[in-house]
Amino acid sequence: MVTQHSQTRPGRFQPQGPLRGTVKVPGDKSISHRALMLSALAIGESRISGLLEGEDVLATAAAMRAMGAHIERTGDGDWTVHGVGVGGLMQPSGALDMGNSGTSTRLLMGLVASHRLTATFIGDASLSKRPMGRVIDPLSLMGAEFTASPGGTLPLMVRGLVPAVPISYRLPVASAQVKSAVLLAGLNIAGITEVIEPVPTRDHSERMLRGFGADLTVEVDAENVRHIRLMGEAELKPQEIEVPGDPSSAAFFIVAALITPGSEVTVTHVGMNPTRTGIYQILQAMGADLTYANQREVGGEPVSDITARHSILRGIEVPPDVAPSMIDEFPVFFVAASIAQGRTTTSGLDELRVKESDRLALMAAGLKAIGAQVEEREGGLIIEGTGGEPLEGGATVSSALDHRIAMSFAVVGQHIYHPVTVDDVSPIATSFPTFEAILNKLQAQND
Ligand code: S3P
Repeated sequence: MVTQHSQTRPGRFQPQGPLRGTVKVPGDKSISHRALMLSALAIGESRISGLLEGEDVLATAAAMRAMGAHIERTGDGDWTVHGVGVGGLMQPSGALDMGNSGTSTRLLMGLVASHRLTATFIGDASLSKRPMGRVIDPLSLMGAEFTASPGGTLPLMVRGLVPAVPISYRLPVASAQVKSAVLLAGLNIAGITEVIEPVPTRDHSERMLRGFGADLTVEVDAENVRHIRLMGEAELKPQEIEVPGDPSSAAFFIVAALITPGSEVTVTHVGMNPTRTGIYQILQAMGADLTYANQREVGGEPVSDITARHSILRGIEVPPDVAPSMIDEFPVFFVAASIAQGRTTTSGLDELRVKESDRLALMAAGLKAIGAQVEEREGGLIIEGTGGEPLEGGATVSSALDHRIAMSFAVVGQHIYHPVTVDDVSPIATSFPTFEAILNKLQAQND
């Protein structure tokens, strides 16, 4: 069984002159998922402001409701959650529809694994192809039982175990989703659950678990490997959470401003967690004119305003160890590289092949179709940039149910000779429902 998306809608993108103005992007997707989940596990009322109201996060909200939490939208981005307490999740009456959201699926599989309930997870055609074995493996060691579709995919059924067994698990892939699934399972398991993380990934779960009062420690050993230890059975206390703007969403407008002559765009209130800001470091190393203002802390996360001005970027060899901190930004980064001066080389990006789409194949095919010089390798792309000239355009590209592919081609459409058509822009609503409105606003400042 595969769930359907909202209606297919093509999008046509072409330059409208410089992009100018100050905008705010919606709340961080990763933090929004975690805010809902942890609030639903605290006893009492938590309040969340700035929650991302995209389809992925709404799938998490619906699932937590189906398992007993009271979740209510009280205003634009404002939500209240009455949690059931760790261990208090209830048997959902139907299948949990995860839509397009890998984060919802993998994190919730972790939560369910140590509760006495059985849950079936279903999703759209994109999600139904994505590998779940990476969470099934550690959660099975903890005692949960799984019946998955061939290849360890959705639809799948999880039977949680109480009491489950605490484990020490060394991550075989650099994945914050796998790390978080194990930690969330550990919340309802007596004893210490340990995740050993050789390559650092986004640490929102660790920060927020601590914020909710969990006993969680992080030790970095002599080999620079992180040992994250969580003491279960945890008692979480309700919180007020302000969700910072999503640096992954901001990156689309930052790159659009950098490649479009005459542009100057400020994005306010952007999360600057160092496990997320690889894109900004690499763009600066390429010569991007980026300035940061109003640096502060919001909800345990660093936040800043970022201003980007049009820049001639220089090609770069991206070190593979930066990949986890810019993992979701590669599609739009490839756009920047296509318009940079000289060659950009990326490697070690095999994970991009199992995101919402095969992002290496999709970006290579789409960029080539609009005139970019791209060579696809097993673990990355090699791109010869135009040196600041627009790309040719004049083709239709496929978004393959991948929001970030659709938005990346909307960005390249700002510096192109002939319009580019994205066959389906509806997936943008999974992470950034206001993307097109904000793009229009930045274009309109020219009038
Ligand atoms: C996420 C982790 C990343 C990222 C995804 C969100 C999260 O996935 O690509 O968009 O919120 O934990 P992996 O951890 O699988 O790399």
